[in-house]
Amino acid sequence: MNEKMNFNPGPTALPDEVLTKAQTGLNKELHSGISILEMSHRSQEYQLIHDNAKSELRHFLAVPESHDILFLQGGASLQFTMVPMNLLSKYNTAYHIVTGSWAEKAFNESQKIGKTQLLASSKHTTFDRIPKRSDWNVDVFNTPSYLHITSNNTIYGTQWQDYEDLPDLPIVMDISSDVGTKDIPWDRVTLAYAGAQKNLGAAGVTVIIINKELLVDHDTERPIMLDYNAHAKKGSLHNTPPAFNIYVLGLMVQWMNQEGGLQEFEDRSNKKSELFYRIIDQSNDFYKGHAEKSSRSKMNVTFKLPTSELNEAFLRKANEAGFVGISGHRSIGGCRISLYNGIEMEACEKLAHFMETFKQVHSN
Ligand SMILES: Cc1ncc(COP(=O)(O)O)c(C=O)c1O
Repeated sequence: MNEKMNFNPGPTALPDEVLTKAQTGLNKELHSGISILEMSHRSQEYQLIHDNAKSELRHFLAVPESHDILFLQGGASLQFTMVPMNLLSKYNTAYHIVTGSWAEKAFNESQKIGKTQLLASSKHTTFDRIPKRSDWNVDVFNTPSYLHITSNNTIYGTQWQDYEDLPDLPIVMDISSDVGTKDIPWDRVTLAYAGAQKNLGAAGVTVIIINKELLVDHDTERPIMLDYNAHAKKGSLHNTPPAFNIYVLGLMVQWMNQEGGLQEFEDRSNKKSELFYRIIDQSNDFYKGHAEKSSRSKMNVTFKLPTSELNEAFLRKANEAGFVGISGHRSIGGCRISLYNGIEMEACEKLAHFMETFKQVHSN
């Protein structure tokens, strides 16, 4: 294992095997004299890489044939605009549940495009929870409409535990920070999107999984680069794709499939997160979790130490010990341990041990 153990919130650690294979993409001899960085995206060789990434992902996430998979650019953030721009011509209202800063950004952008209504928010409690169904403002929906949620809130460390309580509306999900760690109910989810840089590879490619029913003819008023159907019709090759990032995504997803697939990574994320929540719960408030227990994220564990001095000492010592990327987001401070699929259990165990030892030394 590397000396540095990377717990960054994204981009984050990739498995050594994936990094080693990615390097072969730069080797001209292995690729008919042209590396993947230099290759034409119209070549047959690139098409195989592109199709392979798509089929590995379809298999890994059990995406049904009713849905298409697109590889676009602009990050998950561009989807905050593209989703309402494309969907609000079919649906008349976008309902949003705001559970964190990214969810709030999606809500704000949607308001610029069309009729957007806030269904529930946990902003008043510093986004420490997923609002309960009983706290939602609306029970009768203007239909046809869709509901936008953010499945995991990277900054605050909360996560939807299941989707059973969601109303009977088509669901749009930002799955950027927990994709590949739990089942997605595709029969309910009309569109899901994720930047690749947490669980699926490297920054630069955004995955959109969209029900084909939404892929209707291009609205001539809509800029073509912001039109899902325009991209779908060309198999995500309307313009030059981020070829190397799609190649890395293919390698990462292939690795996850070979390791045992989605269920295996759900089990691993359960085990990794339990390790840290157990320490928090048994620490007598030395480590105080930000998220309400019933909304805890398995991807981002957020907590604070009793004083800002101790917090700083903890982060400094952790950094010296090789643990990288665990300071909390500036909006809530404290600490955040991100546990994406490329992070090894062994690194988690070492960090957990470090936390136990730090507590023993510093608690009275
Ligand atoms: C849940 C969530 N949505 C959206 C984003 C924004 O992603 P991007 O930087 O790809 O635009 C992030 C980034 O961390 C995120 O965690």
